[in-house]
Amino acid sequence: MNQKNIYILAIESSCDDTSAAITCNETLLSNIIAGQQIHMEYGGVVPELASRAHQQNIVPVTDAAIRHANISKKDLSAIAFTRGPGLLGSLMVGVSFAKALALALNLPIIEVDHMQAHILANFIQEPNAIKSTPNFPFLCLTVSGGHTQLTIIEDHLSYRIIGKTIDDAAGETFDKAAKILGLQYPGGPIIDKLASTGNPSAFTFAKPNIAAFDFSFSGLKTSFLYFIRDMLKTDPDFILNNLNDLAASIQNSIISILIKKTIAAAKQNGINQIAIAGGVSANSALRIAMQKACDDNKMQLFIPSFSYTTDNAAMIGITAYYKYLRNEFASQMVSPYSTKKT
Ligand code: KG4
Ligand code: ZN
Repeated sequence: MNQKNIYILAIESSCDDTSAAITCNETLLSNIIAGQQIHMEYGGVVPELASRAHQQNIVPVTDAAIRHANISKKDLSAIAFTRGPGLLGSLMVGVSFAKALALALNLPIIEVDHMQAHILANFIQEPNAIKSTPNFPFLCLTVSGGHTQLTIIEDHLSYRIIGKTIDDAAGETFDKAAKILGLQYPGGPIIDKLASTGNPSAFTFAKPNIAAFDFSFSGLKTSFLYFIRDMLKTDPDFILNNLNDLAASIQNSIISILIKKTIAAAKQNGINQIAIAGGVSANSALRIAMQKACDDNKMQLFIPSFSYTTDNAAMIGITAYYKYLRNEFASQMVSPYSTKKT
């Protein structure tokens, strides 16, 4: 059977990255991301500035995605966009742009949930390289700046949350620890780099004791903050002299919590395929330690390519493709949501 190719233009604008991608069925043809340097000096994302930057970037980013994919607008089958969760002002830009372009081109629109898309980043195929993908059901640890979730994925479009953070997200903990150390935003990648030459056992911090598969990181963050504050009283250069060990130790604390819960959840649910997703899944130590934990427990691990861990429109495109196959189109009345009721 020779099926028609489905070309989707996908738009992601939920936080501080403006991204557009073109997919052809499950294959990614282009994925353009414009980051926003402006937030660095503020130590976190400033929503108002993010919305303005999306407004400036969205047209050139979309043009570039179409150009790089070597297609024209008339080849498109649908336009997809992130509906939420995220910053409302940022989402408004992407949602309105996608709706207007779809009206002009007479195309259907597809709304995509950002968290579902992070998970489905594990299914993105690239031209000339077949990537193996997990079988259903599998367990996914989604770790981003705003979320930390353990989900059981039943099929491409349905998943069940079995655990989540009751306070800070894993990425937020990386970012807050980095801020305490006087590092820039986002702190996760900086801590990752510094930790590569540090001793992960140099310092230990409070471990959370949370039932079942929920997570908590606020106690760890406070313990880190108080430890640094106390050490600075006797040695004003404490951070400077121990930066790599501090980065490696806080990173080790965060990833140990994530791995312990993930393996326990997989065992309890009789699942032996695990995927990781979201910005923190770019963390090199998490990737290595999760692989070891999976090997030790005879489980198979799936990790998206680095480019599809942090926010990107490729993951919106692949999710939209599965929705397209089921005729799940949105109406022009659709509006974004900042948080999703679960
Ligand atoms: O998924 P994402 O791009 O945006 C959200 O949906 O939140 O995740 C961003 C988060 C930030 O907290 C960032 O510090 C973290 O992912 N992150 C990392 C790494 N790269 C990004 N955390 C640890 N190690 C990394 N290499
Ligand atoms: Zn994200």
